[in-house]
Amino acid sequence: MTVTAERPPAAGSPRHLVGAADFAELGLGALLDRADGLRSQRHAADRERPLIGRQVALLFEKPSLRTRVSFEVAVNALGGHAIALGPDEVGLGRRETAADVARNLSRLVDAVVLRTFAHATLTEMAAASDVPIINALTDDEHPCQALADLLTLRRHFGRLAGLKLAYVGDGNNVAHSLLLGGAVAGLDVRVATPPAYGPDPTIVARAGELASGSGGRITVGTDARSAVADADAVYTDVWASMGREAEADERRDRFASYQVTTDLLVAASPDVVAMHCMPAHRGEEIAAEVLDGPRSVALEQAENRRYVQEALLIALVGEA
Ligand code: CP
Ligand code: NVA
Repeated sequence: MTVTAERPPAAGSPRHLVGAADFAELGLGALLDRADGLRSQRHAADRERPLIGRQVALLFEKPSLRTRVSFEVAVNALGGHAIALGPDEVGLGRRETAADVARNLSRLVDAVVLRTFAHATLTEMAAASDVPIINALTDDEHPCQALADLLTLRRHFGRLAGLKLAYVGDGNNVAHSLLLGGAVAGLDVRVATPPAYGPDPTIVARAGELASGSGGRITVGTDARSAVADADAVYTDVWASMGREAEADERRDRFASYQVTTDLLVAASPDVVAMHCMPAHRGEEIAAEVLDGPRSVALEQAENRRYVQEALLIALVGEA
């Protein structure tokens, strides 16, 4: 008897989502169009299930609410099966090397979604993997968040090119992915952080290159008011990211004048939206009245995580 593999492995190297600069190669416009379509069909009984028979491992070395749940929902909604592994289960880089984890998972699943600390762990896995690796947050980047943020902006304003996005706060992983993703999308991205807490200069330079090809603009400085001037969207994130909790007290002092308040938003466009990837600390990086007020699109951002990730999984796994 001849046993035929149901799904032969795709030829060539897999495509990964390592960082938001990859949006250019993955086709940002098409991904967002597909995500929009998936969102509008979310209740349709005859919704496509292109992940039937596909397995997706979700490896989380840091806590998560939105990313974990939105990926599980996305995989399930597309007909696939998600296997979630928490911080104590795999021992990535401790029990065995990141490359060995990737090689073994490549024999068992069709894609790996990874949240980890060092970005190098993700790139090591991507280099050794025969299946797509999707960055679900590292110390350096959070591209799935930026993708959902771009969908949120496009749905709200009906366009992306030329929109003014001000990011105020820590020059962290979320800021990095907004710089790169915003540059691919042709946004005017302005980042304002306290001195010495700015984004990585290598990422800023890469964003500048991407922006010069898309008609976008990148400005990085320390003045929150000038970043916010006439902005269509004002974005912030926690002052101490996961892994930096020990610095929280010191950062609270240094970042105090970078809180997104109603007063700061006066300098922005009258139609400004307030954005936050969440989890949020009311009274620190954002005033409660802004996060919970009519300008906030934070929950739209959270909801859109599911649809951009569905679009991404179809592009990387369902069509491979
Ligand atoms: N925004 C976001 O990634 O949230 P979680 O850390 O809860 O996944
Ligand atoms: N910058 C934050 C984002 C959380 C979604 C962190 O890394 O903790």
